[in-house]
Amino acid sequence: MPTLTENPARDRLIFALDVPDRTEAIAWLDRLGDSVSFYKIGLELLSGGDWFHVLDELAKRGKKIFADLKFHDVPATVAGAVRGLAQRPITFATIHCDSRAMLEAAAAAKGSLQLLAVTVLTSNDANDLAALGVAGEPADVVIERARLAQIAGIDGVVCSGTDLPRLRDALGRDLLAVCPGIRPAGPSGDDQKRTVDVPTAFAQGADYIVVGRPIRNAPDPRAMADGIVRQIEQSVG
Ligand code: C5P
Repeated sequence: MPTLTENPARDRLIFALDVPDRTEAIAWLDRLGDSVSFYKIGLELLSGGDWFHVLDELAKRGKKIFADLKFHDVPATVAGAVRGLAQRPITFATIHCDSRAMLEAAAAAKGSLQLLAVTVLTSNDANDLAALGVAGEPADVVIERARLAQIAGIDGVVCSGTDLPRLRDALGRDLLAVCPGIRPAGPSGDDQKRTVDVPTAFAQGADYIVVGRPIRNAPDPRAMADGIVRQIEQSVG
């Protein structure tokens, strides 16, 4: 696992900028200042029309960028979309973990962009998988999908902290693990079902965590972000 010198605690916290437009996005950048160095921009900003504007603003401010657009289509279409993102100053981008052909096509198009395969959404549990005809516990499905991603040349996976012990046992430490569904104060009753707190995520082998609502809804978001970074320092150091 990289040390704190190689990958500082502050860079391991990714803030989910799930807002509808540039006005709100830039207000968050101003509010969080130096507390957050890595931002995830996703579907809400895209459909609101301001995704590329916010991408440019993040790059201008020297922030690291996670493009969470969760591509899922036939191999040639996904490869084209990945090639487009690879031209921009983006560190991570997501694709769904689908066929090996799609994953390989994406890997071949990614250049220096690091691709993360979404295994099983943290809002889904075993009942949700069963309703789709997918048998087994989420962690089993995560491992099978992560193995496929690794073979195809994908850099890492998005998974729940609850999947990590099994994932690391089965596939080792080479794949990056980026974990959303972080709830610093325990389960929150929102749409996330497979959650862990910050120390548990890192103790179990996370490389990065993605945190949205626990920071956005905190009375003092900046203090919450700083507190999470301190917890990361203690967990990794
Ligand atoms: O607000 P919250 O902390 O739940 O935000 C989590 C973020 O991580 C959201 O932007 C969501 O889209 C994303 N995400 C997730 N589960 C995945 C992949 C991404 O919750 N498997």
